[in-house]
Amino acid sequence: MEQEMNEPGHLMIGGVDAVELASTYGTPLFVYDVNQIRRNARNFVDTFKELGVEAQVAYASKAFSSIAMLQVAKDEGLSLDVVSQGELYTALEASFPPERIHLHGNNKSIQELEMAIDQQIGCIVIDNFFEMELLQGLLAERNASMDVLLRVTPGIEAHTHDYILTGQEDSKFGFDLWNGQADKAVQYLLKDQEHMSLKGLHCHIGSQIFETDGFIMAIRKLYEALGAWKETYGFHPEVLNLGGGFGIKYTDSDEPLPLSHYVHRLVKEVKVQVDSYNFTFPEIWIEPGRAIVGDAGVTLYTIGSIKNIPNVRTYVAVDGGMTDNLRPALYSAKYEAVVANKVNQEKQTTVSIAGKCCESGDMLIWDIDVPIVESGDLLATFSTGAYGYSMSNHYNRFPKSAVVFVEDGHHQLVIKRESYQEMTRLDLPYTPPENV
Ligand code: LLP
Repeated sequence: MEQEMNEPGHLMIGGVDAVELASTYGTPLFVYDVNQIRRNARNFVDTFKELGVEAQVAYASKAFSSIAMLQVAKDEGLSLDVVSQGELYTALEASFPPERIHLHGNNKSIQELEMAIDQQIGCIVIDNFFEMELLQGLLAERNASMDVLLRVTPGIEAHTHDYILTGQEDSKFGFDLWNGQADKAVQYLLKDQEHMSLKGLHCHIGSQIFETDGFIMAIRKLYEALGAWKETYGFHPEVLNLGGGFGIKYTDSDEPLPLSHYVHRLVKEVKVQVDSYNFTFPEIWIEPGRAIVGDAGVTLYTIGSIKNIPNVRTYVAVDGGMTDNLRPALYSAKYEAVVANKVNQEKQTTVSIAGKCCESGDMLIWDIDVPIVESGDLLATFSTGAYGYSMSNHYNRFPKSAVVFVEDGHHQLVIKRESYQEMTRLDLPYTPPENV
């Protein structure tokens, strides 16, 4: 990975010295380079514009949701994918325009649906029959209407380089295209109710995908179904939402496509399908999360204990771990790192980076080459902007880390470090029954 450094050999992030950030805000610290977020967002948005294609690029806020982040997403003209009332609440707190918010989820609660209706968000992506009936009832009570997409599962699973054509779907998400479920849902939406307006289809085939083949297969499957529904119901989709999943670089062995390339390929295939089924070209929606924020985030840690087991391994422990980055423990995810105060020093030794949780699996990186490290050095792990803070947790009662945004040499705290008082604020003392 390429890094910028300054004269004393310190890592620079967005024009700011990482050592200065760590001493100002403490560690563990999430640092986002806002310019990188903007570049990623613009790559998607501008490519659609260049192609003259009507589009919504909906940032999947599960990757990292905070008021500051959603303000940046709003400024960049993105739409927003939320999957819970908490993500929706955060969006509204950030004054995100409701008409650009899309609600997802495989088990949307009455409260979530009510909030979505009352706030007049742009679209609800319907996931299952239970939800469809619930939503219909809530809309009817209010005599309200809502634009909806139908989430379908096209029977394609994509994982990084591979995609699997399953032929049938075993997924908790969406309506199966293969067994008549999606057909039944379309029929209901078009014929049997008045409050939901079906705009089109949604599908999401996976995450951290490096190829476009899986997306192409999915588009073909969607149009097979759409072609049939045109014949049966005269349905013409206004929107095609192809989900997220565009891969990013975590380590040098990752070779994602340029973001614009995904857009070109998707649009090209939709054109082919639209022509062959004689449809008008739909609005294309996509939902990138990782590709917007992943490579914009760096985590800074302070190195503490160093344990050498002669001829076996050196464990270098940092002051965070699976509490701020669950991905290595959960998915064996790989990361790269540097010693942020020694970027100019020669790498002389191989160590493994351990977290500080009481769990052997709490290892951030196995076998990484570094300069000679000492306790008190600063470690920076790269590409931690997606599913890092958002999946952080309180295991071992570690408070949540702070988050800082940097842009053009400026730095600003956007999520405070949690104090112990804040972490325990919801705890109540217990009074045994005999004392009540
Ligand atoms: N849209 C839908 C419907 C999704 O389910 C997801 C991710 C996205 C968009 C955004 O996908 P992205 O562009 O970020 O790949 N925690 C895992 C990732 C889970 C993704 C779940 N859905 C990880 O850390 O790798």
